[in-house]
Amino acid sequence: MTVDNDTRTDPGIDLTGPATPWNDRYPFLGTGPVDVSGYLSEEAFDEERRGIFGAYWLMVGHVSQIPGPGDYFETNIEVRSSSLIITRDRRGTVHALRNICRHRGSKVVSGCGNAKVLNCPFHGWTYGLDGRLRGVPDREQFFDLELAENGLFTVHCEVWNGFIFVNLAESPERTLAEQLDGFATEYRDYPFDRMTCGGRWSSTLDVNWRVFQDQFQEGYHVAVVHTGTFPEVFNGRLNPNSRPSDFTINGLNRRISFAINTEYQPTPVEQLSAEIGTTFGAGVGMTGANPAGIANWAFDVNGVFPNTLIDPSDGFFFGHQFWPIAPGRTRWEGFLYVMPATRPSELISQEQTYILIRDAWREDMELAETIHRSIASGALREFRFSDPEIACRHSHYAVNQALGRGV
Ligand code: FES
Ligand SMILES: [Fe+2]
Repeated sequence: MTVDNDTRTDPGIDLTGPATPWNDRYPFLGTGPVDVSGYLSEEAFDEERRGIFGAYWLMVGHVSQIPGPGDYFETNIEVRSSSLIITRDRRGTVHALRNICRHRGSKVVSGCGNAKVLNCPFHGWTYGLDGRLRGVPDREQFFDLELAENGLFTVHCEVWNGFIFVNLAESPERTLAEQLDGFATEYRDYPFDRMTCGGRWSSTLDVNWRVFQDQFQEGYHVAVVHTGTFPEVFNGRLNPNSRPSDFTINGLNRRISFAINTEYQPTPVEQLSAEIGTTFGAGVGMTGANPAGIANWAFDVNGVFPNTLIDPSDGFFFGHQFWPIAPGRTRWEGFLYVMPATRPSELISQEQTYILIRDAWREDMELAETIHRSIASGALREFRFSDPEIACRHSHYAVNQALGRGV
């Protein structure tokens, strides 16, 4: 996006030529069609339930959701039938607790809030923010009830750069750092932890969680689908099909990086937004951003295994989570985080980015369920990915690899 005070003269990378050789760099991903015919089977779903969602670290929130002592929120992992409470205790430590009262199993909290103790709504047992059982009404009527042995079940929980992760395994087979791999290295200095939520959206759709993720991991669709929101913002004369400028694999995770079309003429509203705050291609030169160092950088898409996309830009980041409910049903959460505004005019710019992203996602959503129906019909058994769609190819590969399926 060009602004008046823009000093850049680089017209961008010419991406009109032969395909970028991402597949040459990662030949193990292959170039053939990707089989999706089994994605809607209960067997495959059960395997993923145990081998992925019961074994790997899952991102469940951000520290800005529990900024102070006593803050908590409830989070649901439907595929594991699990409700969790994420708390911050008096000393500032973050805990993940099963939302299951040890008396007779009632859910203890709903939603989010701030509390000194967590109170079960059934018979009033109270728990500390670290899950310890603190009070039992009419306690002398119980038989050998030890408070110390009846706290809320704890779940493995770690915080990386502001993101809260849990692991539902009894003994995780890998550390969070091992799982995040090069993603954590690349974004070590990006200030995720200092950013706050600027918008959150949720929807439940009839689509498989693995297929749904593809929708947001390639630029090939942008020139066709996003004519209403991003007309020629990312595609243009030198890059008509929004090819990525960089792609890398970080273990089971992946990053694709996209450049802005420097020849794009912004609308008056976009122009104003770029002048008073941060929006695509008109950022603040944020520390730790653009780890690939690409020219005219717009944003990265990071597939953070297994079900999260984190897309850092300059001054804001957005992302998605895909929570499976059934083989053909997924709860989607989209979010936008911003640097806290230092002056009121920045809020206008943030709002413009928020609306733009929301409307673009609406354009994406309309297609997801049609793809699902095509697979459900049994007629469509495989996807054909081009070279610039390599992140989608790797996304499918990573799940198979994690499950030890023949890949
Ligand atoms: S189930 Fe929680 S106090 Fe009875
Ligand atoms: Fe899109």
